[in-house]
Amino acid sequence: MKIKSQLSQIIQAALERADIPSDEEIIISDASKPEFGDYQFNGIMKLAKQLKKNPREIANQVIEQIPTEGMIAKVEVAGPGFINIWLSNAWLSDQSSAILDDTRVGVGYVEQPEKVIIDYSGPNMAKQMHVGHLRSSIIGDTLATLLAFLGDEVIRQNHIGDWGTQFGMLIAYLEEQGTDSSHQELKDLEQFYKDAKVRFDESEAFADTAREYVVKIQQGDTHCLQLWQQFIDSSLRHCEEVYEKLGVNLTRDDVRAESFYNDRLPAVITTLQSQNISTTSEGAECVFLEGSDTPIIVQKGDGGYLYSTTDLAALEYRAKELQADRICYVVDARQSEHFRQVFTIAKKAKMVPESVKLEHIAFGTMMDKSGKPFKTRDGGTVKLIDLLDEAVVRAKATIKERENQEEIDLDHVATALGIGAVKYADLSINRESNYLFSWDKMLSFDGNTALYMQYAYARIQSIFRKYEGELSGAIIIGDELEHRLALMLLKFEDTLTKAAVEATPHTITAYLYELVTLFMKFYEQNPILKEGVEESTKMSRLQLASLTGKVIKKGLEILGIEVVDKI
Ligand code: ARG
Repeated sequence: MKIKSQLSQIIQAALERADIPSDEEIIISDASKPEFGDYQFNGIMKLAKQLKKNPREIANQVIEQIPTEGMIAKVEVAGPGFINIWLSNAWLSDQSSAILDDTRVGVGYVEQPEKVIIDYSGPNMAKQMHVGHLRSSIIGDTLATLLAFLGDEVIRQNHIGDWGTQFGMLIAYLEEQGTDSSHQELKDLEQFYKDAKVRFDESEAFADTAREYVVKIQQGDTHCLQLWQQFIDSSLRHCEEVYEKLGVNLTRDDVRAESFYNDRLPAVITTLQSQNISTTSEGAECVFLEGSDTPIIVQKGDGGYLYSTTDLAALEYRAKELQADRICYVVDARQSEHFRQVFTIAKKAKMVPESVKLEHIAFGTMMDKSGKPFKTRDGGTVKLIDLLDEAVVRAKATIKERENQEEIDLDHVATALGIGAVKYADLSINRESNYLFSWDKMLSFDGNTALYMQYAYARIQSIFRKYEGELSGAIIIGDELEHRLALMLLKFEDTLTKAAVEATPHTITAYLYELVTLFMKFYEQNPILKEGVEESTKMSRLQLASLTGKVIKKGLEILGIEVVDKI
C-alpha cells in the first residue's frame, strides 16, 4: 500500500480545486506525535511565501477541498500552517482486511523497475575473510533482496581481490609446499601468507621465483595460471563457508573478480588519454581532478595498473555491457574518496552515461566495546567463521537461561537467533556510523534486536497453537491502538520503498521495532482469547495478530533473518 503517494495526490487535487498554483513536489511526512494525526503536510509555508500570502489562510483553503469520506477522516490546520491528517477507521479496516491473504502483505512493485548492480562482499583472496567484510556482505545482501522484492532486476557482483603482485609469492609457496596438501595448508590463509612472506624474505632464490611468477601469470603461463586458479578456488571456498553460515546469497556466478578486467585495462588508459583526461607525469599516467592537488594514478611507471584502473574498467563494463541503471558499491566508508574519484572520472570520460546512478553505500568500522577496531585478545584479526560459531554458542546459552522453556530443536533455534543477532545488530544502526560490537546487546530479548522480533513472532504463533478454530472475518478498528497497529501494518510498503531508495536497511529495523512495540502494547491491553470477548472482536484481533506475524516474517526475511515458531 503506497499511502504517502495517495495522500500527496489528494493534496495536489485539493490545491488545484482551491486554485493555488504549485509545481513543488508534495511531500507527506509521518506525524511526529499521535495527537497530530497520522500524517502531516508541511509544504504550505513555502508555497505561501512564493505567493506572498498568509500560510494559515492558504492551509484553510486547501483543507476545505479535501474530501473527508473514504481514506481521510479528518484534516486540521495546525501551527503556522501545517496540515494534519487523520485516516479513517473504515478505510484502515478495508485496506488491512484486503491484504490478509496476500503473500506480499500488501506490498506492490516499483513503478519503474531498474537494473541495479550491487557490488558487495569483495573479499581479498590472499587473506582470510575478516569482520571488515562482514558488514559489506550483510548490508549488500539485504539491499539485493529488498530491491528484487520490490521488482528491480538485481545483479550481484562479488568484486574479489584476486590479482596483484602478492599472488606470485603465494603460488610459488603453494608449489613449494606441494599442491596436494594445499587444501590443508590453506585452512589458515593468514598463516599461509605469513609463512610465504618469511620464505620470501629469507630466500633470494624463492623471491626470484615469486617475482618471475607475477610476470608469468600476467603473460598467461599455463602452469602458473593453474596454480593461481587452485589458490583462488581454495580461498573462495573459505568465503563460501562464511556465506553459507551467514545465509548470504552469493554464488560463484556472482564472482566478477579483479582479474576479469585485466584485459580491459589498457583500453581504460587509451580512453582517458584520447580525451586528455589523463596525462603522463613522472612516468606515471595520472588524472588531475578539479579541487584536488594529488593526482589519481591509473598506470604506474613500470606499466602496472591500480585498484582505480580496475574499478574504471568495471564501471564501464557494468554501465555499457550489463546496462545498469543504478550501481551500488557496498564498501567501507574509508574508500569514499576512491569512489568519488572513479565515479567522476568515469562520467567525465563517458565510460558511464550521465543517467546512470552511481552510489557508494558507505558503512563505518566495526569496533569492540572499548571503541577500538575489532581484534582478538592477542591482537590478531578476528576470523569471521569463528565469530559466527561463537554467536550460535552464545545464543544457545541465552536460550537455556530462559524460564518456561518450550520443547524446541535447540540447534536450529540457536542458529536462527545467533546469526540473526549478528546480522540485525549490523543492519539496525545507521550504516555510516561506526559500529560497536557487543554480544550482550545483540543477544538481548529486549530492545531493537533480532531476538525481540523473533520472540514476538514466536509469541504470535503460540496464540495460533492455542486457538484451534478457522480464521475468518475482517479487521475492525475498535480503539486507538488498533488504529495505529493497522496503519503500521499498511505502512510496510512505504517503509521498504524508503529503505530501497536511500539504501538504508535501518529504516526497516526501525519500522519493525515500532511495529513490534505497538503490537506488544496491543496484546497486553486487548485480550484476544479471553472468556467474554465478543466473537467478531476476537476474530478481528486474531487477524491483526496474524497479519503482524506475516509482516514481521517478511521484514526479517528481507533482512536475511529466519523466524522460528517457538523459542
Ligand atoms: N576488495 C576490496 C577490499 O577489500 C573491496 C572491493 C570493493 N569493490 C570494488 N569494486 N572496489 O577493500
